[in-house]
Parts: sequence; C-alpha cells; structure tokens
Amino acid sequence: MRVTVSRKAHFNAAHRLYNCDWSDERNDAMFGKCANPHFHGHNYELIVSVTGEIDPETGYVMDMKVLKDLIASEVEEAFDHKNLNEQVPEFKTLNPTAENISVVIWQKLRPLIPTSLDLEITLYETPRNYVTFKGE
Ligand code: NI
Repeated sequence: MRVTVSRKAHFNAAHRLYNCDWSDERNDAMFGKCANPHFHGHNYELIVSVTGEIDPETGYVMDMKVLKDLIASEVEEAFDHKNLNEQVPEFKTLNPTAENISVVIWQKLRPLIPTSLDLEITLYETPRNYVTFKGE
C-alpha cells in the first residue's frame, strides 16, 4: 500500500521573466507583463507530496514535522520575500518561471527525503495557474 502525504506551504517572491539573449521587444512579446524590468510579485502556494509505504511502527509515511521543517529551511527561508532573479543563486541564469521554480524546489528537497519515498512538487503561481514536477 503506497500512500501519499502532502504538506502545504506559502511564500511571496518577486521575479522577472526574460531571456537575456533576446531583444526587449521579443521578451515583451513572449512574457508580457512578466518581462517588466521593475519586477513583480506572486503569492506562491506550494504543495509537497511524498508517497511511500506506511511505516508499521509509526503508522506514518513520513513525519510531517520533519517535512514541514525541510520546507521551511530549504524553500521558505531561501525564497520568501526575495527577488528570485537577484537574490536566489539558482535563478542567476535560469528564468524563474513556475516550471523552473518547481524543479529547483524538487532538487533541493530530493536529497533530504528518504530514497524509498517518491517526491512530487505542485506550485501555484496564481490561483488558476499551477505546475507539477515529480523528477521525471
Ligand atoms: Ni510573474
């Protein structure tokens, strides 16, 4: 029996979407308001899901307090109230789209979660736009 447990979290962050190899016009055409050189913010909603067998001794798939603390140290402290382009090293040369933010979060958490457990990241950039990544 494989069971999925999930923890929700939240962070506010600013970003600008652009490709530095493109002209301003081409960036505007692709990214619209998100290419604004003055940056803009999002209220990101994060769901971290872990899937695995229930430990017969604890009844847990994973101790949610451990997962909560990992999200706090790896994601919230790194991203909350930050300018992703300028203050988060992973996005120095990587466009901070919801897709790329999800991959970075997965890469940060994956080594810290037991290998017997699968990890999936769901990231809402707006209430209607969200992405998922499970390392495939
Ligand atoms: Ni945006």
